[in-house]
Amino acid sequence: MDLTVSLTCSALHKTFRLGHTDLEILRGLDAAFARNGVNTIQGASGSGKSTLLQILGGLEKPDAGEVRWGEESIYGWSRDRLAAWRNLTVGFVFQAYHLFPELSALENVEFPARLARRNDPAVAARLLEQVGLGTRLDHRPSELSGGEQQRVAIARALRNNPALLLADEPTGNLDTATGHEIIDLLLRLHEERGHCLIIVTHDDRIAALGQQRFHLEDGLLVSQGQG
Ligand SMILES: Nc1ncnc2c1ncn2[C@@H]1O[C@H](COP(=O)(O)OP(=O)(O)OP(=O)(O)O)[C@@H](O)[C@H]1O
Ligand SMILES: [Mg+2]
Repeated sequence: MDLTVSLTCSALHKTFRLGHTDLEILRGLDAAFARNGVNTIQGASGSGKSTLLQILGGLEKPDAGEVRWGEESIYGWSRDRLAAWRNLTVGFVFQAYHLFPELSALENVEFPARLARRNDPAVAARLLEQVGLGTRLDHRPSELSGGEQQRVAIARALRNNPALLLADEPTGNLDTATGHEIIDLLLRLHEERGHCLIIVTHDDRIAALGQQRFHLEDGLLVSQGQG
């Protein structure tokens, strides 16, 4: 593992106000993620794992604290710069796939490249081959199984060759065997590409695959050591 740090966060605070109740979700959270490491995060339901990933990926501003990419504080950037960073540097994979239902597999994978005006369907086709769907390019999400849809989502997340891949319970909707296939795929692609990978999971066996393992509890990220 290259121990150069790419992503750090310090003193993150996040509180949600629900009616008259304040839900203090992150309470001064610090963390550092190695440049090409595999990191896993566990934690009770509602502990703030998804909130943290959204903050790390530039989708949700913390109330206080910083997220740094290299030397730079991402929430100090302009809105446009942050949006460009999200599109070019961050890939997201979600539990519920979040594919565009009216687009084919190929068009779904090509979508982030269109946003960046770097359209080249051959790249998307190659990515779909890499995830084992080379014969399914024209199929829509409704014509694919859950595991296949997640493969499309992974290919889409990697389309712009991100340096940071955030996966929020990527196996949460899948049976155990399919879930492990998806994790194997994420690890193989990580091996080939060397991005920083952060996987949120409820599964102890998946968590154990992390080179760095973390647990989110009481608003802080606690290291469980290196695997
Ligand atoms: N936009 C929001 N507005 C209000 N409350 C929110 C918002 N987003 C999250 N929360 C609350 O913050 C808490 C943490 O939510 P989050 O989704 O980050 O938890 P989680 O650890 O990902 O849980 P799970 O394992 O169930 O996915 C929850 O109590 C949730 O209701
Ligand atoms: Mg969640």
